[in-house]
Amino acid sequence: MTSAKSTIRKRDKQDWLCDRVAAPWGTNTPGPDAEWLFRKEFEVRPFAQARLFITAQGVYEAEINGHRVGDHFMAPGWTSYDRRIQYQTYDVTAQLLSGPNCIGVRVAEGWFCGRIGFEGGHRNIWGPHPALMAQLEICFEDNTVAIIPTDSTWAVQKGPIQLAEIYNGEKYDATREVPYWSTIVPEGAADVSHAWQPVYCMPPLSEHVELTAAFGEPVRRIEIIQPTQQLLSPTGKSILDFGQNLVGYLRLRNIKGSRGHKLILSHAEVLEREELCIRPLRQCDAVDEYILKGDQAGERYEPRFTFHGFQYAQIDGWTSDCKLIDSVEAVVCHTDMKEAGSFTCSDKLINQLYQNIRWGMKGNFLSVPTDCPQRDERLGWSGDLALFAPTAVLLFDCYDFLKNWLVDVWYDQQTLDGVPAMVTPNATLPDPVWCRRKPCAIWHDVTILAPWALYEETGKVEILEQQYESMSTWMQKLPRNKECCTHLWDTSIFQLGDWLDPDAPPDAPWKGKTDAQLVANSFLIHSLELMTRITHLLHKDEEKAEFEKEFEAAKKEFQEEYVTSNGRLVSDSQAAYAIAICFNLLTPTQQERAGNRLVYLVRKSNFRIGTGFAGTPFLCEALALTGHIQVAYAMLLEKNCPSWLYPVTMGATTVWERWDSMLPDGSINAGEMTSFNHYAFGSIAKFLYERLAGLQRLEPGWTKCRVAPCIGAEFSEASASHETAMGLVSCSWNTTDSDGNKSRLGVRVRIPPGMTCEIVLPEGSGELRKTVGAGGWAFETAFVRDYEWPVRSLPPKS
Ligand code: BGC
Repeated sequence: MTSAKSTIRKRDKQDWLCDRVAAPWGTNTPGPDAEWLFRKEFEVRPFAQARLFITAQGVYEAEINGHRVGDHFMAPGWTSYDRRIQYQTYDVTAQLLSGPNCIGVRVAEGWFCGRIGFEGGHRNIWGPHPALMAQLEICFEDNTVAIIPTDSTWAVQKGPIQLAEIYNGEKYDATREVPYWSTIVPEGAADVSHAWQPVYCMPPLSEHVELTAAFGEPVRRIEIIQPTQQLLSPTGKSILDFGQNLVGYLRLRNIKGSRGHKLILSHAEVLEREELCIRPLRQCDAVDEYILKGDQAGERYEPRFTFHGFQYAQIDGWTSDCKLIDSVEAVVCHTDMKEAGSFTCSDKLINQLYQNIRWGMKGNFLSVPTDCPQRDERLGWSGDLALFAPTAVLLFDCYDFLKNWLVDVWYDQQTLDGVPAMVTPNATLPDPVWCRRKPCAIWHDVTILAPWALYEETGKVEILEQQYESMSTWMQKLPRNKECCTHLWDTSIFQLGDWLDPDAPPDAPWKGKTDAQLVANSFLIHSLELMTRITHLLHKDEEKAEFEKEFEAAKKEFQEEYVTSNGRLVSDSQAAYAIAICFNLLTPTQQERAGNRLVYLVRKSNFRIGTGFAGTPFLCEALALTGHIQVAYAMLLEKNCPSWLYPVTMGATTVWERWDSMLPDGSINAGEMTSFNHYAFGSIAKFLYERLAGLQRLEPGWTKCRVAPCIGAEFSEASASHETAMGLVSCSWNTTDSDGNKSRLGVRVRIPPGMTCEIVLPEGSGELRKTVGAGGWAFETAFVRDYEWPVRSLPPKS
């Protein structure tokens, strides 16, 4: 025990007096290893307070005197470990005793050295084996401090978790449990001290690696879901259906059977021909195993160091006399974000769509924003977040979560000579193809789009300051043409374009119908426009002038290259028009005509969606902006594939990666990439809030908002609320149709102190406009539903 006379405060590097410890056999482990149990006994005199500072290269759970420390899941979380490792601080005053104590920490490979990455992934991306760093700081009444650091006096041995892999799952052998591993061994208990080996003290962390406190809440076990039914598959398998596609794991009780008997828990998002459909998981087993110790009173099991994306779980080997369905529950895990928004309306399917979007975000905001939570990826794909961020901030308070991730985006970008990584943390590092600098529109525009979304939501300029170097470096590095249109993207660079356009071949999602260069350049101009606003906010006058010039020049070249004077675009597609309209790339006349052309295309497609990741967030909004809200509603309410409601009619409880991840006959899309939990297409939730419910943020940080419901289709009510720094803002409306198409509209609005709100409501054939401040407000107007509904698609011949 080291003594020091100091008070406990925030950690700096020099405050870490502990050694980085590992198992002595660690460096010679060829494949995945069992978890490691670390242990230290120590004596403490009466004390006032105790805190544990701890982190790992890998994932850990700590216990003091047999009691779990904290409630984090997969701590210390995932960061770009070659630069930044988060540590946690736990108040353990209540767990520590005056007298003899024992601390135990189980450590497994996690993201650090477990298999992770793209196309099957790699092991040992950030290091060859796990390691632990911890120090327990005990404060006494006389203000002295004693420190119990990890050092050569700690012992280690393998634990019962034989394999802890994020993709393949956890294998727990209860016959190998180590009694009293985190407690003082009671007198008379069998002496097993020979199994413990002294730890190996590793060299200190490289000076380039920062140990940092986390910005936000950790990943936690958030809620419990009970199975809704137990199915018997055609091949005789017992399958539990949880009624919700979720991210987490299974918790089992009443496990009974002979010692050594194995329970196998397999997970899948969907069934195909009534059996688990595991093909979409690719190189990912998603199987947890439990080997019984044979306790006839019943055993319990829940994995600690893995998670799965699933609605269905197949349990093989259940030999207990207790009913399976009564013995299993699902534990939902994600970063513990506060829910910031709510939305409902009179259409049940749209409400289910909104719930699906919420669930999609929860499951994919697990330590970092991921593409999907179930297959062999679960990576921080930057493009997905770039497109979803403006919606994400409306659903959950994810400011700290994304702020943390953006630090790593900038770090990874620096290691790639200023071009951001496709995924952050950069889990493609050892891959010769993916680790190359691969500039890519949208995906790399995350450097600007995500901080901007956070700024708009909170009004916090700090996030723009924090990320300024990242965004300006990207704008410099973005490769432009050498000849002709020199302000636009270098045309020789491969682009992902309107990724997953429904008309793209299933195995080539980048081959959509919209020119990928047009898409890339639209986002470039949007980014340049944001850069002029950002430099203005940061008082960078010279840079602002430069970005303004660049923006104007790029926009002019875009016009010359892609737009006719009458507002037709070279790609006559929904995505091209939607993006150009929303990014304001057209003159007012072109904008109007582009809106009409978009309506034509939408009617021609019978209101089915023709966009992928890039175009989808802008589709309905572009229709609303150009005065075609009823056409937008016709698209929103369409149930044939591709549409937002098609998956809902197929029983979806999350947002799918492909519009047709499941085909109308219930079979699963044969494409390589078929996830049932990808948030990108959920970006429509922003439209639901802003247009259908009518709650719009006008000023960054919500100092000013607008309530302007777009009444339409057969909607008879809608409401939305949002938790802002000033308090809850909410609006709800309902209509009562009286005579023919005459209707009365009732609107209720609640505005917190510090916010002003512009009210815009239909009244007669005109508008009621009013500005209100804090308080509860109610309005009633009479108006006429003088719109075409249902909206007609084009006659077949046109
Ligand atoms: C991911 C996507 C990602 C894309 C880009 C996919 O495998 O799941 O969401 O953006 O690759 O290449």
